[in-house]
Amino acid sequence: MTFENSGLFPLTAAVNEAGRLEIGGCDTVALAAEFGTPLYVYDEDTLRRMCREFVGEFASRYPDSLVAYASKAFLNPAIGRIALEEGLGLDVVSGGELALGRAIAFPPDLIYFHGNNKTLPELELALDYGVGRVVVDSFHELRMLDELAGSRGEVQDIMLRLSPGVDPHTHVHTTTGILDSKFGFSVETGHAALAIRQALTAPNLDLVGVHFHLGSPIFELEPFSIAIDTVLTFVSQFKDEGLELREFSPGGGFAIGYVREQPPPAVADYAQVIASATRGRCADLSLGTPRLVVEPGRSVVGRAGVALYSVGGTKDIPTVRRYVSLDGGMGDNIRPALYEARYEAVLASRMNESPEDTVTLVGKYCESGDVLIRDIELPTLAEGDVLAIPSSGAYAPPMSSNYNLNPRPAIVMVTDGDARLIRRRETFEDMMRTEVF
Ligand code: LLP
Repeated sequence: MTFENSGLFPLTAAVNEAGRLEIGGCDTVALAAEFGTPLYVYDEDTLRRMCREFVGEFASRYPDSLVAYASKAFLNPAIGRIALEEGLGLDVVSGGELALGRAIAFPPDLIYFHGNNKTLPELELALDYGVGRVVVDSFHELRMLDELAGSRGEVQDIMLRLSPGVDPHTHVHTTTGILDSKFGFSVETGHAALAIRQALTAPNLDLVGVHFHLGSPIFELEPFSIAIDTVLTFVSQFKDEGLELREFSPGGGFAIGYVREQPPPAVADYAQVIASATRGRCADLSLGTPRLVVEPGRSVVGRAGVALYSVGGTKDIPTVRRYVSLDGGMGDNIRPALYEARYEAVLASRMNESPEDTVTLVGKYCESGDVLIRDIELPTLAEGDVLAIPSSGAYAPPMSSNYNLNPRPAIVMVTDGDARLIRRRETFEDMMRTEVF
């Protein structure tokens, strides 16, 4: 694979004079030598450009819009600060993500707190910090939050997560807006209607709007317009009961390219469909112009991140397969094992060589399912070569684990020829810190 025009690599990716992959002006082989592998490299330029693209494409079509970064895709102080500097809000789904947002002083009024089973301590943390919106996902939470806010003499702004029953055709593990889902109040079952009525009459809650999220990654545009139509038509019935739609959120789920054969729609295409469906239906139904909140995660960080691995041993099974082992795997990227996610790879240390071998790239974890890429054509790999997997910026570090007690990788941010560590590599001591000896 050549990376020119592939849309998979960071915007600053290039082949340098030594024939090596360069990102943000940094030689990736030198980065691997300096920081060790596996290494996740994030390109600051790409991150900022994606933030600006989202903000710009939505604001130009729907001025009262907010792009809230879905931090589950990858949150750490450096990433959170970039999102803030670029004018994004923050979508968090746990006390931990909220605590990190708080640690970097992310303005609480720009925080949306999601999650299908928020605990009482998490809700207390949210109210202590004064988060702008709690996106309520269940009757249990509605009751708990109303009581909690009441006990503090406060009124909390909330949104309700609705489930519109629209299939976005994503992997079954990442499809959320259909009837058979643990998320949200279903329109079809009548639970959404009941939740709206309960929220409108809850003394300590102010229902400012509704949210839905269909799944991820969504390569089609139509599910967004169908779901927007369904949800806005549904909520318009409650105008007489006092529902004033001040905010409307069709969630996130915007796709990125992982392999060349499956390019994603442009951010502008998503913005066009969402803005025009929202404006059009709101006008038809006399719903005013609610603030539009979108929550991209993957599409903000995915392309900015590249994973670097060192090549270890090779196992040849004549007429069957050649396995090449890398020094990472399912512990730093569970996505292939969990979703059969596909990736491409390049030989960062010898970018100008042509493919001559079909190999299966496997990790170092004690599982046969620890396959990063099956049947990929690459130049003949040798021990010590540095291999780069693009489109690794989203959901790999945050879903990483210490399986087999392997430390999690270091992460660097590159810009203009400079690389700075934004997360150091874990040590054996780190992994034992919580153990009781
Ligand atoms: N908003 C809500 C309410 C969500 O649940 C999600 C993702 C997002 C926004 C952001 O979706 P994105 O723009 O990143 O597609 N671990 C899976 C993805 C799980 C997504 C969960 N919710 C993966 O690696 O593909």
